[in-house]
Amino acid sequence: MTPRRSPSPAPAAVAAGTVAAAAATTVALAVAAGAVAADGPKGDRELGQYLSSECVTCHQISGRYDGIPPIVGWPEDSFVEILGQYRDKTRENPVMRSIAVKFSDEEIAALAAYFGSLKPQTD
Ligand code: HEC
Repeated sequence: MTPRRSPSPAPAAVAAGTVAAAAATTVALAVAAGAVAADGPKGDRELGQYLSSECVTCHQISGRYDGIPPIVGWPEDSFVEILGQYRDKTRENPVMRSIAVKFSDEEIAALAAYFGSLKPQTD
């Protein structure tokens, strides 16, 4: 086995350029994340929408009451608090407890942001 030669010399400038580009990307991401935390919803709405598919098999996305309480249009803080209570089993309901335990804080915040952004339909 002979060690493979690199087909072209790797100039230090290329490597340095890559590092600089990576650093610039990191800064841009940090700035974007900071902006969201500052004035957007606290949770990631897109993640919440993705996770919501399970919830809407029971809860009406329209916000109507059909025996199961509506969960749209809530303030994010209340939503997070209540799901947290199901998760740590200080709030009764075996169904919601078994659902809530699956989610991290971040995922609960995402669900709160998504459902909180929906408007209940009244007609
Ligand atoms: C299998 C049906 C079912 C699914 C799926 C479900 N829920 Fe529920 N959920 C209920 C029921 C029933 C209640 C009422 C429980 C009670 O009386 O405490 C409830 C209550 C709640 C409440 C409190 C409502 C209130 O007015 O007190 C919230 C918030 C909630 N669910 C969020 C969610 C979220 C978020 C999801 C998806 C991650 C979800 N639920 C999935 C059946 C379900």
